[in-house]
Amino acid sequence: MKADALQSPGHGAAQAARAGAREARVPGPRPNLAALRTAYLELLKLCLCDLGGTSTGSVVALPDGTAAAKELRGEDLLLRSGGFDWPLDGLTMTGITRLDDLQTCVESVVADRVEGDLIEAGVWRGGASILMRAALDALGEEERTVWVADSFQGFPSRSEARREDPYMSAFEFLAAPLAEVKANFKRFGCERGVRFLPGFFDETLASLSGERWAVLRLDGDTYEATRLSLDCLYRDLSVGGYVIVDDYGALEECRRAVDEFRHEHGIEEPIEYVDWTCVRWRRQSDAPIAADVSPPPAPERRSGPSSDSGRPRHARVPTHYELELRDHLALYRERLAAARAEIAAVRDWPVPVVKAWMRRKLSRSR
Ligand SMILES: C[S@@+](CC[C@H](N)C(=O)[O-])C[C@H]1O[C@@H](n2cnc3c(N)ncnc32)[C@H](O)[C@@H]1O
Repeated sequence: MKADALQSPGHGAAQAARAGAREARVPGPRPNLAALRTAYLELLKLCLCDLGGTSTGSVVALPDGTAAAKELRGEDLLLRSGGFDWPLDGLTMTGITRLDDLQTCVESVVADRVEGDLIEAGVWRGGASILMRAALDALGEEERTVWVADSFQGFPSRSEARREDPYMSAFEFLAAPLAEVKANFKRFGCERGVRFLPGFFDETLASLSGERWAVLRLDGDTYEATRLSLDCLYRDLSVGGYVIVDDYGALEECRRAVDEFRHEHGIEEPIEYVDWTCVRWRRQSDAPIAADVSPPPAPERRSGPSSDSGRPRHARVPTHYELELRDHLALYRERLAAARAEIAAVRDWPVPVVKAWMRRKLSRSR
């Protein structure tokens, strides 16, 4: 699990840096509306991740099944901004990179007028859902509701996967009571336009059938939670809406639930990595999703995402991770071009000049 990253802190920080975790630092306010909105949301993300103060507490799951707290300092803070650890006091374990991307998704469905509400299934202390509400409010989108679905008592005890897990008792840490989560929304002034759906997903999510969704954020970790969320919610996701799966990269059971669901329903929109574990895709196909699933038709017979359906197509919004990779790629291309130019220049040198240069080099290295 993610919290394991903390058991070798140095290694964890390097891993977080390699995974593109960004330093927790925000732009200050500027006297215009757009800059103030940006500054507010940046500051909020810092607070939700508990990265705004002088110390940041983290929780480690120990092999004996207990949990222990430690303080993150220096470069280890990248573990938090990269969403690798369990926060002691923070309100979300997603980290800054995933919150950045969540904000992008919310802003993109608003800009593209994609119909529907937003839901997070598996909210823990509520931080990611608070950001969704705040991002909507900052844009004056008051008619949309943010749905907050969780047992508010952790994982179902009947989950076989959890019972076998040696870290089981550390998972008690993942139970955030409803009253506490409601208080978190209130503290940030984000309590309006929020509906709480307390209970285990197998008893609650089916009741949402027929709602319309613009963003589905799935963070229930297990196969069961992920599969139930997709089964109950995906068919009501608007074309142009996003499905975000927090643990696709980190948890095999979560990945299996997503891959099976996509395969069974012939979903072909490409999966995009938000960071080292979180993925998302944007629904483009308006083909209905059957409640009762039969195997999908062979690819050559499938009609595929239609470009002639007359429905609007939405621009693909790159993830921050992709943008970063694009920057890295541009840099490597530049270096490659420079190296190629150097090789070409050397190749064109007359042989005696090269020999003299080699001699100089060799004599210097002796
Ligand atoms: C990893 S935490 C969610 C983290 C959260 N999204 C954040 O931003 O920090 C997983 C959450 O899923 C909830 N959960 C897991 N399985 C569930 C189920 N079957 N029904 C309801 N809630 C469930 C747990 O109670 C827990 O709050």
